[in-house]
Formats: sequence, structure tokens, C-alpha cells
Amino acid sequence: MTLDTTWLNQQRVFFEEGQSLWLFGYGSLIWKAEFAYHERRPARIEGWARRFWQGSHDHRGTPKSPGRVVTLVESPGTTCQGMAYRIDADTLGPLDIREKNGYLRERVMLHFAEGEHAEGLIYLATKENAAFLGDAPLEDMARQIATASGPSGSNRDYLLNLTTALEDLGAEDKHVFALARQVRELEGNR
Ligand code: BEZ
Repeated sequence: MTLDTTWLNQQRVFFEEGQSLWLFGYGSLIWKAEFAYHERRPARIEGWARRFWQGSHDHRGTPKSPGRVVTLVESPGTTCQGMAYRIDADTLGPLDIREKNGYLRERVMLHFAEGEHAEGLIYLATKENAAFLGDAPLEDMARQIATASGPSGSNRDYLLNLTTALEDLGAEDKHVFALARQVRELEGNR
């Protein structure tokens, strides 16, 4: 698969033109929504786990020194908490470009507080994409995150901003919190 998924995403029209749709953010979209939206609500998706398994050559790293950013992997019984935005369909155009490094639009069921649910979209980077890095020992991932940096800023800030955003949501995420602890420990040892 090509690294630039912009064109592929524009063929993935899972919604009615002219209607608003829900977009679920589980990474930087939780704290950095630089797009117009009608409303924003904490939400969760079931059966998915957030993982720092996607390489970032264009935002939090470079082609020579890629960073690590989040994607989702299927994980029965796991809940992933994040933030849902109700947006107009044409808002997806700029997002397809921002998230072009291997992410594809996918449909998921979003669950809100009090039993409400709605279908929505996520941007998902699977192991089929060229930028996928996959799992690695925690300390290796933490070292990579502690040192990588790209046009959108340091990989370390991405991880720590995500950690703070999840704490503010009252969300539990052992993988993210363990990486944040490890990065802080590495920084303490410098
Ligand atoms: C997210 O926050 O959901 C997200 C951000 C960038 C790429 C993919 C997903």
C-alpha cells in the first residue's frame, strides 16, 4: 500500500453527503481538534486497543528518524476511550491530508454515556501500511519517542499531551501510561 492514503480515503465515503457524521478521535484529535465541529462528546469504542505502533515520518518524526504515534488494534474485551466530534462531511477533506501517512477511514460503533450509541468514523493504520512499525519492547519504544521530532513537534510532547488528555477524561490506558512513565524516567536519567 502507498504511504499517502489521501486518495484512497476520498473513495471511502461511508456517509450521506450533506449530513453530519461522528468522528472518533483516540490520539491527537482528543486534544488538538483544529477543525470546525458541531459538538464534541467523550465516547468509547469496544474491541479496540490504542497502541504506539504506527511510524510517523511527517508529524512527530522524519523519514530518517521516524517517531511513533497511535493506531488501534483489534482486541476483544478492550475499551478505548476518546473524544467524538460531530462534523460536516467536507471537514474530512483536510483531515485526510493531515492523516495521510497510512491511515484509512473505517466505520465503528461509538458508545456515549447513558447507553447512547451511533455509528462513526475512525482513522485506522493497519499493519498493511508502509509506515506501520508494530510492537517492540517498551523501553525501545520509549527511547524512540523520547528522541524523535518532526514538523508537528516532539514525539515526547505528543505522548505526554495524550497522557494528560486521557487523564482529564478519566480514561485508563495501561500501554500509554506505561510509555509515559518510561519516557519520564529516561528524561530523569539524562
Ligand atoms: C486520532 O486522534 O484519532 C487520530 C489522529 C491522527 C491519526 C489517526 C487518528
